[in-house]
Formats: sequence, C-alpha cells, structure tokens
Amino acid sequence: MKLHGSLNIRGNDLFIGDIKLHDVAKEFKTPCYIMDENLIRDNISRFKKSFGENNVIVYAGKTFLNSYMVKLLKSENMYLDVVSSGELFIAHSNGFNMENIVFHGSNKTPEEIKMGIEFSVGRFVCDSLEEITLIEKFSKELNKKMKIFLRINPGIDAHTHEYIKTACIDSKFGISKDLNKIISILDKYKDNENIEIIGLHSHIGSQIFSKEAFIDEVDEMIYLLKEIKTKREDINLLELNLGGGFGIYYTEEDSPTSIEEQVGSIVDRVKYNCEKFNMKIPKLYIEPGRSIVGNAGTTLYEIGVIKEISGIRNYVSVDGGMTDNIRPALYDAKYECLIVNKASFERNYKCTISGKCCESGDVIVKDALIQEPRRGDILGVFSTGAYCHSMSSNYNKLLKIPIIFFKDNELKLTTRRETLEDLIKLDIL
Ligand SMILES: Cc1ncc(COP(=O)(O)O)c(C=O)c1O
Repeated sequence: MKLHGSLNIRGNDLFIGDIKLHDVAKEFKTPCYIMDENLIRDNISRFKKSFGENNVIVYAGKTFLNSYMVKLLKSENMYLDVVSSGELFIAHSNGFNMENIVFHGSNKTPEEIKMGIEFSVGRFVCDSLEEITLIEKFSKELNKKMKIFLRINPGIDAHTHEYIKTACIDSKFGISKDLNKIISILDKYKDNENIEIIGLHSHIGSQIFSKEAFIDEVDEMIYLLKEIKTKREDINLLELNLGGGFGIYYTEEDSPTSIEEQVGSIVDRVKYNCEKFNMKIPKLYIEPGRSIVGNAGTTLYEIGVIKEISGIRNYVSVDGGMTDNIRPALYDAKYECLIVNKASFERNYKCTISGKCCESGDVIVKDALIQEPRRGDILGVFSTGAYCHSMSSNYNKLLKIPIIFFKDNELKLTTRRETLEDLIKLDIL
C-alpha cells in the first residue's frame, strides 16, 4: 500500500498534513472527496520542468474539474483541454485565459463550435473534415481566424500490460493516417482567411506505463510531419500535440514510469527524429490528466452494514458507491483503502467494499484487506482524484458529494454536497 502526497500515519490515525482524516469526515460528513492541492501543484511543476519552457502542458479537464480547479490551473498559467460547452463554460466563468484553451471533442455540436469561436479559444482539435467546414463557416460569420490541430489516429493502441500496434484503426477518434487525405485537407485550407491548421494531434490511450508506446507515437507522428514536408514544402505545421495517458499507481499491480522519465523520453525522441530528418523541432504539447490529479484524491466513506457470508465473502457497505466512483463497475478498476481511524492496526479482514446502490456490481474495492471494521468507522479510498467526480451520477437519486481541497494544512470546501432540493431543481413542477 502506498500513501501519496500529504497523507501520513501518526498514532492510530491517518492524517493529511497535520489534519486527522477522521476529523475531516466529522466536519464535512461522508462521503466526500479530499484533493491534495500541494500534490497537484507538485505534479504540475514536475511536468513543466521535464517538458521544457517552450513546450506546453495542457491539463485534461475531463479528469476532474470544478471552479476551484480552474483557478488553480490559472494560477499555474496552465493550458486546459475541454471537450464540451459545459467544460468550456466552467473555464470561461472563472476567468480562464481563452487563448490557453484546447477545444476537443469528436462530435462537437454547431452550438459548441460557435461558443468556442465567440470565446476565441486558442485551438480547436478537429476529428473530421465536417468539423473544419463548420469552424470555417462560423469563423467567417464572426470575422475570426481560428487555429486548428488535426487529430490523427496514429494506429497505436497502448494498454497498461499489453501493447498492440495498429490495433486501433477502428476508432471514432481522429482522421486515419492517410497521407493523401491529410494533404488534401491541408491544401484545401492553406492560406485560408478564417482557419489556420497549425499542427497535428494524437492520443493513444490512458493509464499507459510503457515508454515504448509513447516513443512509437512520436516516431509515427514525426514521420508523418516529415512526409507532409516532403510533399508540400510551403506548408508549415509548427506544433505537435501528443495527448495524455501517463499511467499512475493505484495498487501494487501498477508500476508507472515517473513523470520525468516519461516526459524526458518523449522530448529526447522528438529531438532524435527531427535531427534524423533534418527538421525543425515543432512546439510540443502534452495533455496529462490522471497523472496530475489521480493520486491527489481520497474519498472518505462511513461504514454501515457488515455482512459476513460464511465461507464465501464478507461485505462491508459504505455510504457512497458507483455514483461517486463508477470506475470499478465500469472497467474493473482497482483501489487501495484503509480505515482511517485504525490506520496503524493490522489489516487482516478480507472483504468486498460495496456501495449503497441497487446494483450488485456496485463495488468500490473487491477483495480488500482492511482493519477489523465496525459500523461508524471511516474508510479512506485512495487515488480517487481522476475520473471519479467527473463521472459521478445521481443514480438512485443519491446526492453528489462535496469536494474539499487541502493546502498547507488548511481545508477549503470547493464544491458543496448536493441537497435533496437540488434533485428537483430542474423539474417543471
Ligand atoms: C485527447 C485526450 N487527451 C488527454 C486525455 C487525458 O488522459 P489521461 O487522464 O490518461 O492523462 C484524454 C483522456 O482520455 C484524451 O482523450
């Protein structure tokens, strides 16, 4: 088991900095998410240092986003990847610099495209010719010129433990890596008054540990840039966005490569390829999400019903579940957990941590080893900063849970718990 960032055990208790997590649960009630701001800022700074000053780190907003997170990113002068009018709205309402927005989405609606243009977002990432046509049309109407990354499907599918090349040609994302097709798009929009195709984008997956997968991605994308340059000397693609996907530690099964090593090897490989092909090094972008916030999140739950089915399984139920963390039910994601008010006790009680929803798949941790549990104990589940809050739901009309940020030994409520009244707020009575 690993404790990340400011988490530490003293006496019987688990602390964040100098604050007992049991006290956090008493003050803010359960379930709740606690985000370790010091760890988030530290991760951002490690990415920036390893990637170099001239290159750009774009935080993937889909991972975790609320107003406070937008302000944190703003204070770090970060870029932000949004994929919907909703994410764009949160950024815009919190005064985020629109030039630093990278607007993704494989099927943006015309309204979303218009909103992006009206807000003058820095860059669109386009998955299709149709979308470019719409951006051109609306940019003309609004008298603007928008910068575009062409999203390419590089034909690399990288998984944590398996590594399969050319397996993901069948994908809804990106334009296939067909040189003639790409050149015809570039030709069509060369010298366009309302559109500038500034570079290429690719993204090969998420929770990737392998350095080789990213190296392959770099090789494919630089080779493509070189081929384009060979055919069209007058087309200058100055930027290359290599997406996100850097893997993190959830359990002992995971052995991620450090931020420094992953990012360093990408930068080195780009240089190596550009020297080989005698090309100018493009401005590089990466889009990490999970690796910035994943380990920074902890979810606190109160233990309720404990059910021991002799010879089969013990179930320990908590007061949240798939509504605040869908990942185990969705793709069998694994987590570590412990009882925070018995943190130093021996963990010898094997059980399944189940949620309170009416689904037998509503499991948070299967086969967990925790301390002897009692009703009322507080369970901490670690590394829940990524894709938990952002994928949360109101299934069974459970209330969405609050987000508390921890920074320099202070706690700040940044998103409140939903209320019962919130549940009927949108209904027409
Ligand atoms: C285009 C793109 N960029 C960045 C990310 C962030 O990935 P991760 O959270 O694994 O770093 C994703 C997530 O799937 C993505 O689709």
